[in-house]
Amino acid sequence: MVAAPQDAPGVFVTGTSTEVGKTVVAAVLARTLAEEGKRVAVFKPAVTGLEEEGETDHALLRRASGSGQSDEEIAPYRYQPPASPHLAAALAGEEIDPERLRQAARTAAAQADAIVCEGVGGLLVPLSPTYLVRDLAADLGYPLVIVVSPGLGTINHTLLTLESARAAGLEVAAVVINPWPEEPSEIEHDNRKTIAELGQARVEAIPHLDLTDPSSWPPLRI
Ligand SMILES: Nc1ncnc2c1ncn2[C@@H]1O[C@H](COP(=O)(O)OP(=O)(O)O)[C@@H](O)[C@H]1O
Ligand SMILES: [Mg+2]
Repeated sequence: MVAAPQDAPGVFVTGTSTEVGKTVVAAVLARTLAEEGKRVAVFKPAVTGLEEEGETDHALLRRASGSGQSDEEIAPYRYQPPASPHLAAALAGEEIDPERLRQAARTAAAQADAIVCEGVGGLLVPLSPTYLVRDLAADLGYPLVIVVSPGLGTINHTLLTLESARAAGLEVAAVVINPWPEEPSEIEHDNRKTIAELGQARVEAIPHLDLTDPSSWPPLRI
């Protein structure tokens, strides 16, 4: 599959796992671009866990970016159970169609100056039985931003993700440690240094944020 032509520059935010802060980091990236005066589109191939409480990923991404996109335009597939997308789709009697995802992302990018995409879970999460998040990232062709945790275990998870990205020929723009503690321990300082050295990657960090007030967020330029 040849990478889609890029209508607007963009990034693809992935992470070492679910709940590491992909949506938060994607929101900060989108907010930063919007503050620079850019029209920002956001995109997420599938949202699962709608039955759970709290703001949905597509709602936070829309709020942070100032985009006027509909839920459908941001996230073409949305499911209630907090399951992997391939399973959530199967439980709904569907299968996620890679071509529909590529088209939706292209359409979103065509109407914006920049696009921020958020993956689902980590790189090897199946969107369908034969199409992984990593395949979509490769098809869209945007550089990756990999969100990782600050603490014990993160070196292994981060290096595995970097290896998986590079094995598929994906460009890694940065690793973002989230949330970077106010008073980092020796372990956290060393994780940051070791990930940069062994992972040969640019490493950034995001502190704990007040998500209700995007104007208080520090900018993140990738
Ligand atoms: N930097 C941060 N500041 C405040 N809350 C955060 C931060 N990063 C993550 N969270 C919270 O942690 C949870 C998981 O973050 P989220 O961005 O939804 O992860 P993911 O998209 O990787 O599943 C959410 O409740 C989110 O609000
Ligand atoms: Mg998310």
